[in-house]
Amino acid sequence: MLEQIDSLRSLLDDEFRAVQSADDLEALRLRHLVKKGTLQGLVDQLRSVPKEDKPTVGKALNELRTWVENRFDQLESSFAHQQKVQRVDVTLPSRRPSSGSIHPITQTVNDIIGIFSSMGFEVAEGGEVEDDAHNFGLLNFPPDHPARDMQDTFFVEAADRGDILLRTHTSSVQVRVMQSTPPPIRCIMPGRVYRNEAVSARSLAEFHQVEGLYIDKHVTMADLKGTIMSFARRFYNESAEFRFRTSYFPFTEPSAEVDMTCFLCSGQGCRVCKHSGWLEICGCGMVHPSVLRACGIDPEVYSGFAFGFGVERVVMMRTGIDDIRLLYENDVRILEQFR
Ligand code: DAH
Repeated sequence: MLEQIDSLRSLLDDEFRAVQSADDLEALRLRHLVKKGTLQGLVDQLRSVPKEDKPTVGKALNELRTWVENRFDQLESSFAHQQKVQRVDVTLPSRRPSSGSIHPITQTVNDIIGIFSSMGFEVAEGGEVEDDAHNFGLLNFPPDHPARDMQDTFFVEAADRGDILLRTHTSSVQVRVMQSTPPPIRCIMPGRVYRNEAVSARSLAEFHQVEGLYIDKHVTMADLKGTIMSFARRFYNESAEFRFRTSYFPFTEPSAEVDMTCFLCSGQGCRVCKHSGWLEICGCGMVHPSVLRACGIDPEVYSGFAFGFGVERVVMMRTGIDDIRLLYENDVRILEQFR
């Protein structure tokens, strides 16, 4: 019996050494360590061992069992990692990584840029902190113009000057482009602007504009109208009607505002269009000769037009969001609807 125990031990020793994988180990277990395996076979024979030999044989069997279990556990844990990998179900559909999306304001600005670039306009950008000259003075605002009032404009505290402010429109970029670039100029200026407004569902103290500037020889009001109309037909509803209405801006002469039939009531009159059937979409005009001159461009040689859109209103029209504040809260439940 002791010999049998010895020879099983050396057989198992050989087999343990030959184990290469979790599968090999499992095969070994099925041969030797289950109820009908070789080890239990020896244990069963213990019954027929003469009484006086039982303690010796029993001890030897116990030692064998402990040895086998230790070897087995060692190998098993070294294959545990391999087994885990094997348990991965490669047919499971993968989990989609969560991803962000472009904010509806940025999407709208990008769409506007896309249409104007296809017409040959370049994008120009400028700082959000400006001085009075670039935001007002060079644009022909008289010194006592109400827009300069503290109620409309956020002035910035600067140690040695009182003329620093958050730009109230992106027209300041028009000034910078005219000062730095000889005509022809064909640019659009998207950006964030600031006004000291009471916050409500319709207005915020910050919003976005896209302005445009076109300066060359012989540019006329017809070019302005043609450009705005071809943009508007592509960007807004094909079936909408547009109208040009005379208006006033200090930096353009003549000036106009463009209206579009209300998207909500198709011109019948409703709450959104204040019962007029029309919605204002942009301001525009021929750049005032004094503005050209102040920015170093000779108005005897060159003429040009400019226009400016408010972006948030367009976003609200396109998305149906009826409270402008929702566009600034970055609530994922709102944003994920506009992927
Ligand atoms: N700056 C104007 C505003 O903030 C919008 C505007 C009107 C811009 C006419 C222009 C323009 O360039 O020609 O309300």
